[in-house]
Amino acid sequence: MMTPTAQSQSASSRGDQGLVAAVPRINIHAFCESQQTAETFQLAAADRRMSRAHCSVQLGGIMAAVQVFQAQATPNVLVVESRSPREQVMAELASLAEVCQPDTKVVVVGHLNDVVLYRELIRQGVSEYLIAPLQPFQLIESIASLYHNPKAAPLGRVFAFVGAKGGVGSSTLAHNIGWLMSKKLDAETVITDLDLAFGTAGLNFNQDVTNGVADALGQPDRVDPTLLERLLTRLGDKLSLLSGPGGVDRDFNIESHSIETILSALRSSVPNIIVDVPNMWAPWIKYTLLHADQVIITATPELASLRNARNLADLLKAGRPNDPPPKLILNQVGVPKRPEIPAADFSKAVGLEISAIIPHDATSFGTAQSNGQMVFEVAPKSKVVEAIAGFVELLAGTDKPAKKPVRSGLLSKLPLLGRK
Ligand SMILES: Nc1ncnc2c1ncn2[C@@H]1O[C@H](COP(=O)(O)OP(=O)(O)O)[C@@H](O)[C@H]1O
Ligand SMILES: [Mg+2]
Repeated sequence: MMTPTAQSQSASSRGDQGLVAAVPRINIHAFCESQQTAETFQLAAADRRMSRAHCSVQLGGIMAAVQVFQAQATPNVLVVESRSPREQVMAELASLAEVCQPDTKVVVVGHLNDVVLYRELIRQGVSEYLIAPLQPFQLIESIASLYHNPKAAPLGRVFAFVGAKGGVGSSTLAHNIGWLMSKKLDAETVITDLDLAFGTAGLNFNQDVTNGVADALGQPDRVDPTLLERLLTRLGDKLSLLSGPGGVDRDFNIESHSIETILSALRSSVPNIIVDVPNMWAPWIKYTLLHADQVIITATPELASLRNARNLADLLKAGRPNDPPPKLILNQVGVPKRPEIPAADFSKAVGLEISAIIPHDATSFGTAQSNGQMVFEVAPKSKVVEAIAGFVELLAGTDKPAKKPVRSGLLSKLPLLGRK
């Protein structure tokens, strides 16, 4: 059996380094025991193929990682170095498994050319074992291969936001939630505005509109992560926008198949994808909702919203039997003097739990809108901000399995480490 080092070196010595695909927009955190490995990681992080990833490195081995991740979420890829003997490496990894999210991929850098250890680690769910001293390219190659393995689970999750009727605030919430996700979850987020003629994402973020979505939809067969990268407008450290032209001078005929290509290109390169779906009905809209990882229906507490939300919920529950039901947001609650359907009745009639109740707050949303800012920036202490933040936490937790494994014994916990 070839050791991983032998494999990587043979690839490098063939001189085909350029064939390694770019590493997607992920977070990579390295905990190194030796200065040399830390420097190698820094060189790797500066490589063009890693330019989309967010890399950080610190000294301290596996136990330092255990400390850090007790208080914060683990990144997409965690690189840990250990100079310890086999038993100790396994024991330290068992502690790491306690704090490691199941979708985090773990790459171990060791100092032992030990096939037994290698096999044991791979069997326990470690994605890769590399032997120090490393070349930067070995690191890049093995991290890239974690995402270009055809069997690897797709990286990104698509959150589709749809309003039960026009004007309920679906777009505003989608933008605010995307913004907060990029900050709170510390993960790259793309907001895609599919409302080509009337979309407001550009306005809400005070950005000049681009033709991003329209260009992508106009040439769906050319859409790949590289083209998408060019079409995105950067909004912040980890936030970008794929927006429409916002005008009525062009006609668009959108096919489901174009949506499919765009979403899959996004999924393969970005962890969080917010899709702002316009309030209308067409085959491609239905396709988008049926193929999202999570659908968020925004409704206001009145009758038309209720009827439409129920129809959407029924369609989605029937069409996605193996997915969680859509999430329902009740927005603009408490408009003075307006008769409203109480939340409990609304929830019962729609057949969905209400995931967030967001008060009507014309001042905060109005100010945010006219400034081209998010409500978090103009009214950080408001009730609406509190409600949206709670919802983001709920969304982030959607896919996470139960916190603690029930099994006991150190090594039995290791399978919780990142899967291949
Ligand atoms: N909770 C709220 N309170 C007050 N105004 C709101 C609230 N939510 C959204 N709005 C405002 O409602 C208007 C319509 O929002 P928008 O997001 O464009 O709706 P949709 O996308 O559902 O058509 C915007 O001016 C927005 O600022
Ligand atoms: Mg909208």
